[in-house]
Amino acid sequence: MSLRIAPSILAADFAALGACIAAAERGGADLIHVDVMDGHFVPNLTVGPPLVASIRRVTNVPLDVHLMIEDPDRFIPAFAEAGAALISVHVEVLPHLNRTIALIKELGLKAGVALTPSTPVGSLEEVAADVDFVLVMTVNPGFGGQTYIRRSTSKVRAVRELLDGAGNPAPIEVDGGIDKRTIGEVVSAGAEWIVAGSSVFHSPDPEAAVRALRAAGEVAADRRLQARSGRRDA
Ligand code: DX5
Ligand code: ZN
Repeated sequence: MSLRIAPSILAADFAALGACIAAAERGGADLIHVDVMDGHFVPNLTVGPPLVASIRRVTNVPLDVHLMIEDPDRFIPAFAEAGAALISVHVEVLPHLNRTIALIKELGLKAGVALTPSTPVGSLEEVAADVDFVLVMTVNPGFGGQTYIRRSTSKVRAVRELLDGAGNPAPIEVDGGIDKRTIGEVVSAGAEWIVAGSSVFHSPDPEAAVRALRAAGEVAADRRLQARSGRRDA
């Protein structure tokens, strides 16, 4: 498994966004997570394609755009044009999920499917072979700084089983309430991409915070790897 740390700019100081991203990058951020909210699907408003285009100019780290919006199909081409490398969409707003996944891939991007905490894992069943990654929301989407929902741990495990059953090694991304204390639990359950907002950008030293998160996550990742290879050898 390959651990990737994805700092979420939602918790950054928007007046100093370039400096915040540079600090995360120095700390070894693998992705920059951009939370797009429309005030309809979630009760909050954030940013659109122009901000993604601006960020694209100041970092080489791939941009991971999380669309918490109704009718994402309308905006996917604009986010692709702005420089997103990965886009995730919520199953809760998409009656024709296959079409949306195909659209993201046709634009040359990685396609992710996101589930809110109350959405069952089974809603992924028919697309499990097609997704490039699955985003398991570990808080209710809309705001940073919330507490990790414990039930998410078994959900991550169930999503991993579903993907493995479909023969798809696509990674699981977790988002919400992840810090040095909770990262071990999600990584042990099978999460590989870790979104972290407050625990990175509300820290006095975001660069060190990214490093500390990775170090904490790697301990759990190594243990999981050993446990899995032990099972294969047995
Ligand atoms: C919440 C967003 C998250 C948010 C996570 O709806 O999708 O990406 O930034 O923030 P923290 O890490 O503070 O819970
Ligand atoms: Zn997010």
